[in-house]
Amino acid sequence: PKHFAIVPAAGSGARMASDRPKQYLPLLGQPMIRHALATLCAAPEIDKVFVILSVGDAEWARYDWRDLEPKLVPLFCGGPTRADTVLAGLRAIAGEASAADWVLVHDAARPCLAPWHIDKLVRELAHDEVGGLLGVQVADTLKRADEHRHVAATVPRDSLWQAQTPQMFRYIMLRRALEGARNVTDEASAIEAAGLRPRLIEGDATNLKVTYPLDLHLAEWILNNREG
Ligand code: CTP
Ligand code: MG
Repeated sequence: PKHFAIVPAAGSGARMASDRPKQYLPLLGQPMIRHALATLCAAPEIDKVFVILSVGDAEWARYDWRDLEPKLVPLFCGGPTRADTVLAGLRAIAGEASAADWVLVHDAARPCLAPWHIDKLVRELAHDEVGGLLGVQVADTLKRADEHRHVAATVPRDSLWQAQTPQMFRYIMLRRALEGARNVTDEASAIEAAGLRPRLIEGDATNLKVTYPLDLHLAEWILNNREG
């Protein structure tokens, strides 16, 4: 089977509260989105990388992407939610993808994706029926709050993981799952709602999602201190 990357990048970055969508904020002299796209394009396992932009994206065309082409293909068909954006991308590549091909969905807002993250995910799921996702075990003690912000319970964390991306599933399974369940914040949730059980592949905390301004500083530190 082939491996296609789908990178949802049609969000507005409301929590970042910046002057432009966060995927275009500068990170080590490049728009943040370029880091993950370059890593995905350099991965020998991946055949093609589709970045899904909003219909009205005004930033993409301001940069030069020729060094990543023709493996990188921009599609201007993002939707109002992340799940809509991913589904629109899956529909757009229907002519190219076969049912059993793998799709790796990766957030544009995770710039510290490293080659070994991709290698491990693809290798460990190669013979899996369903697929799975990168994640890390929860480190903090977790509290469930009541409506007055009193602690109602301490949630045992031993079996809790934070979901990351890439999330890797078969094209047809992922498309059907997302067609059926639209109120989800990741692909795995849609697969779970379809009654299947994605596998958790242990990644590491460097693959963080840039949500708030502090995260951009952390990402810069991580990229600057990475070996190789
Ligand atoms: N995303 C998308 N289409 C949307 C919403 C989000 O493609 N309608 C993408 C974002 O561009 C990002 C990824 O999904 O790469 C993860 O979403 P998130 O971190 O929530 O980004 P935003 O939605 O842009 O940020 P916020 O929720 O703070 O507005
Ligand atoms: Mg969002």
